[in-house]
Amino acid sequence: MINDIQRKIIRLKEEKDICILAHSYQAKEIIEIADITGDSYKLSVEAAKVKSRNILMCGVHFMAETAKMLSPQKHVFLANPLAGCPMAEQMDAQMISAIKAKEPDRKVVCYINTTAALKEVCDVCVTSSSAVKIVKNMDAEKILFIPDCNLGAFVKKACPDKDIMLLQGGCPTHARVTKQELEEAKRLHPNAVVLVHPECRPEVTENADYAGSTSGIMEYAAKSDAKEFIIGTEISIAEHLQYRYPDKDFYVLSKDLICSNMKITTLMDVYKTCESIGNSDGKAFEIEMTDEQIAKAKVCIDEMIRLGG
Ligand code: 13P
Ligand code: SF4
Repeated sequence: MINDIQRKIIRLKEEKDICILAHSYQAKEIIEIADITGDSYKLSVEAAKVKSRNILMCGVHFMAETAKMLSPQKHVFLANPLAGCPMAEQMDAQMISAIKAKEPDRKVVCYINTTAALKEVCDVCVTSSSAVKIVKNMDAEKILFIPDCNLGAFVKKACPDKDIMLLQGGCPTHARVTKQELEEAKRLHPNAVVLVHPECRPEVTENADYAGSTSGIMEYAAKSDAKEFIIGTEISIAEHLQYRYPDKDFYVLSKDLICSNMKITTLMDVYKTCESIGNSDGKAFEIEMTDEQIAKAKVCIDEMIRLGG
């Protein structure tokens, strides 16, 4: 059954000139039919190079919005319109503009997990894999890093010569992990290497063997000679790694590391969206942005690619 649907999706992709982009947190059956998979940074860089007329994003809303900004001439769809990122909604442009008005020499660095409207008032965007490099490369000493204070604290530690201001925001999924859970996982698996995402709290990242983006974690696990790993990011990554490297053992750091927004998209959503594209039946959820919105919000994404490349 799953294979039948996958075959139909593959046929529809060809017929309708659709390129499927999937974030690594997506389910295995979606990853298998995607043309491009990866973390937020890879998806944004690759979205700009897509040749197909249609892009279908399997991930969350800000990722589809980013793809639209980087490929404005394409039709960009989100496989399930309910897939948002709670962190992206935590701060708005008005709130950040008020801080900028008080401190005009402070550059605003925003995590890519933000809305296009908020990006309009920011100077540069970052992803978890590029944040430290971009902040180091910036020609500014005073920085406001939003919205994730955990990723911000991670960047602050790596860039001690910068004056980095943080606000209270973050990923509700990663921030849920406690130091006690980490200690318990280490007790259960004393030989395992601990790999965590910097969206986790400092008390977790500081006690891990490695903290890095989704791709960073996957690359570390691939290259390491170790046989056991505790994975401190969305549970799908431990599953994907376990399929890819059956001779190694991957344990989830916490069973609560589940992002319901990333999990909401199903293979059937992908199939139904592919079916609907080009039919004008209104069932496919297309990202609509004006040229003005794109032009304003894209400035900080272009800056991310320039400073992070
Ligand atoms: P990365 O893809 O940058 O690792 O970020 C993880 C995440 O939470 C995506 O929303
Ligand atoms: Fe947003 Fe966190 Fe889910 Fe990523 S894992 S989409 S940051 S809520």
